[in-house]
Amino acid sequence: MSMKITPVKKGEEVHFTNPSAKFYEAIGGEEGMRKLMYSFYDKIYESEISHFFPQDEEEFEKIKESNTKFFIEICGGPKIYKEAEGMELNEFMIRIHDDFSINEKARVEWLGTIREALEEVENIDQEILEDFWEYLDSFSKLAVNSFADGSTYFAAYTQATEDK
Ligand code: HEM
Repeated sequence: MSMKITPVKKGEEVHFTNPSAKFYEAIGGEEGMRKLMYSFYDKIYESEISHFFPQDEEEFEKIKESNTKFFIEICGGPKIYKEAEGMELNEFMIRIHDDFSINEKARVEWLGTIREALEEVENIDQEILEDFWEYLDSFSKLAVNSFADGSTYFAAYTQATEDK
């Protein structure tokens, strides 16, 4: 299983494409997606980035649920995520992360954690999985805003809208 993590580079524009609807179908729609994201959040709880997330169980559950809805929507499922306050959905998501000081180490832990959950998904075509991974690998670079030299930087990005 490849699912490679490519490093973030400060100052480099990030390009990404939303996941293909094929992934959403292959994972089993809303139900499959919920299973994946709940498994991811169980692992987050045990991860080295758990401190980023609410320690209160009820608050943690809320984030888990809203994150699940976001992924359902971004993967081509029903539009069930909350209003993006007039912003494009991905832009809104990037700005949510601005409130946290996220460095490359935290991103790698985040990606490693979701990769573990993805490795548990059975009977899924490798190519379809890689397409979803590409979105995660590139989009997660936009959550990184703190760098080793002590600086804060918010990357520019372009979003491709090809039909897959
Ligand atoms: C592909 C990359 C990522 C996506 C699509 C994503 C998506 C999301 C979503 C949908 C939420 C819930 C927002 C809400 O509705 O309140 C969220 C919250 C959060 N994400 Fe991410 N995320 C990504 C990467 C990361 C990374 C790399 C980190 C690193 C630590 C991170 C840390 C957080 C934190 C701390 C919250 C909780 C916010 C809170 O307490 O309100 N995310 N993310």
